Amino acid sequence: MILSDSNIIKIFDTTLRDGEQTPGISLTPEEKVQIAIQLDKLGVDTIEAGFPITSKGESEAVKNIAELGLKSEICGLARAEPRDIETALSCNVDLVHVFIATSDIHMKYKLKMDRDQVLKAARDMVKIVKDRGVPVEFSAEDACRSDPDFLIKVFQEVSNVGADRIDIADTVGIMNPTTMYELVSKVKQVIKRPISMHCHNDFGLATANSLAGMLAGAERIHVAINGLGERAGNAALEEVVMASQNLYQKKTNVNTKLIYETSKLVTRLTGIGPQPNKAIIGDNAFGHESGIHVHGIINMPITYEPLEPETVGRKRWIQAGKHAGTHGIKAQLEELGYNASEKQVKEILSRVKDLGDKGKKLTDVDLDSIARAILGKVSEERIIELVDISVMTGIKSTPTASVKVVMEEETFLASETGVGPVDAAIKAIQKISDKIAHIRLKDFKIDAITGGTDALGEVVIKVEDDEGNVATARSSHGDIVVASAEAMIDGINKILTKKKIAKPKAALPNP
Ligand code: KIV
Ligand code: ZN
Repeated sequence: MILSDSNIIKIFDTTLRDGEQTPGISLTPEEKVQIAIQLDKLGVDTIEAGFPITSKGESEAVKNIAELGLKSEICGLARAEPRDIETALSCNVDLVHVFIATSDIHMKYKLKMDRDQVLKAARDMVKIVKDRGVPVEFSAEDACRSDPDFLIKVFQEVSNVGADRIDIADTVGIMNPTTMYELVSKVKQVIKRPISMHCHNDFGLATANSLAGMLAGAERIHVAINGLGERAGNAALEEVVMASQNLYQKKTNVNTKLIYETSKLVTRLTGIGPQPNKAIIGDNAFGHESGIHVHGIINMPITYEPLEPETVGRKRWIQAGKHAGTHGIKAQLEELGYNASEKQVKEILSRVKDLGDKGKKLTDVDLDSIARAILGKVSEERIIELVDISVMTGIKSTPTASVKVVMEEETFLASETGVGPVDAAIKAIQKISDKIAHIRLKDFKIDAITGGTDALGEVVIKVEDDEGNVATARSSHGDIVVASAEAMIDGINKILTKKKIAKPKAALPNP
C-alpha cells in the first residue's frame, strides 16, 4: 500500500536531549553514541543528540553522533543566542533546533525581555543558521501559555527568514486534547510550514495531547524513550508510535519490534526504568495473573491483549498468585517442563492461592518448588553446567573471575573483569552462554539467610533473553559469588528449556 504523506507521522526523538535532562541522568559521550546508534536502528526520523552548549563532553557527543553517518537526521539544540548557535553549528549537525520562550510568564520572569526583543532574537538567530545553509526547527518554548496572536506572529517572522519547521512546545504540560487540537488548528491556518508537537507529561496527557495535535495536522511528534524528560517527562515514543499506528491508522518509520530492546538499553544506561504498569514497555504490560484473563488469553490472546507483545519485541507471561486459575497454572507448569494431571494442577493451584492469601509474591522458582513437592522432580535437561569458578579481588586490583562451564557437552573457559567479583563472574558466564543465546540479568537480589560472617547468601535473579523470555532462579551458598554464578546458570538453563518447549507454542494462538 502506498501511504500518502499525511499518513506518515515523523518521529523526532529527544531521549538524548530532553530525556537526558531528567533529574539524575547524565550520560557519557560513549553512552550517547550507543543510544544514538540504537535509535537509528529503531528508525526514528530525527535524533536530537543534545544541547551542545551545555558542556565540552556534550558538544563532543553531539559531534561524534553527527559524524557517524546515521540514516536519522541529527539535531542539536540551541537557545536563540549567538554562542549557542555557533556551538551547535560547530558540531556539524543536520539541523539546529532553535528555541526561545514566547509566554509572558517566561519573558518577564526568566528572559527579562519584552515581546519585541523576543521576536527579534528569534528572527535573527534563525537567520544566522539559515545563512550558513543549515535547516532549522524553531520551537516556541511555553507556546501553550503564550498569547496565541503573539505566538503566531513569532512563527510567521521565523518562517519569513526560512525556518523549515515550527514546533509547539507544551513546556509545562498544561494542555488537554481539546485545547491542543484548537491551538494547532489555529496555527495551521496561518503557518504553512510543517508543525511539530513537543508535549510534557505533567498531567499525564503528553501522549494524548501529541495525538490531538497530530489530528489537527501536526506532521511530527517529539518523543523520548520510556517517556523520559524534564519533570514528568515527554511523550513516550512507545506510546505515540503504537497508538498512532493502532488507534489512528497512521504509520511511522519506526521498526516497532525494536522498541523493547531500545527501552531496555536506555533503562540500563540512564539507570531509570519505567514503572511496572507503564504502557508497552512496563514489566506488566503483557503479564497476566487473574484466572479469567489467563483463560481468555490461552484461548485467544485478543481477549485481553489489544496488541500482540511480539509487535514491540516482547513476550506475554503468566504470574502464579492468588488470582490464578487452572488454565494459567497448567500452562506455566508446561513451560517449566511438568506434565500434571487435572487433580495435580488443582492441588498446586490451591497451594499457590494459600501462599497468595498470605501476601507472598510468587516467582516461577516458587511454582517450581510447589510442583516438585507434588509431582516429584522433573527430569531437568541441563544445557549448561558450572564446573568451577575462581575469583581475584582487592582494593588495588581489578576484580576478575574465571569460570569453567560445560555447555552442550563441550567445555569452555572464560575470564572477565567487573565492578566486583559477582559482576565479573556473571560476565564470564555470559561470555560463554552468548555463543548460544543472549541472556542478560534483569534483576538481582541478595540476602543473608543466617547471621554472622559464615551466613548463607541467598541470591534470587531474573534473567531475560532478546525475545523477552524471562526466568527466575535462586541459589544459596556460603560464598555469594558461587551462589550468584549458580543462580545465573540455573536461569540460563530455564530460558533455554523454555525456548525448546515453546517451539510448538501454537497453544497460545494469535488473533
Ligand atoms: O519543553 C520545552 O519547551 C523544550 C524546548 C527546548 C522545546 O524542551
Ligand atoms: Zn521539553
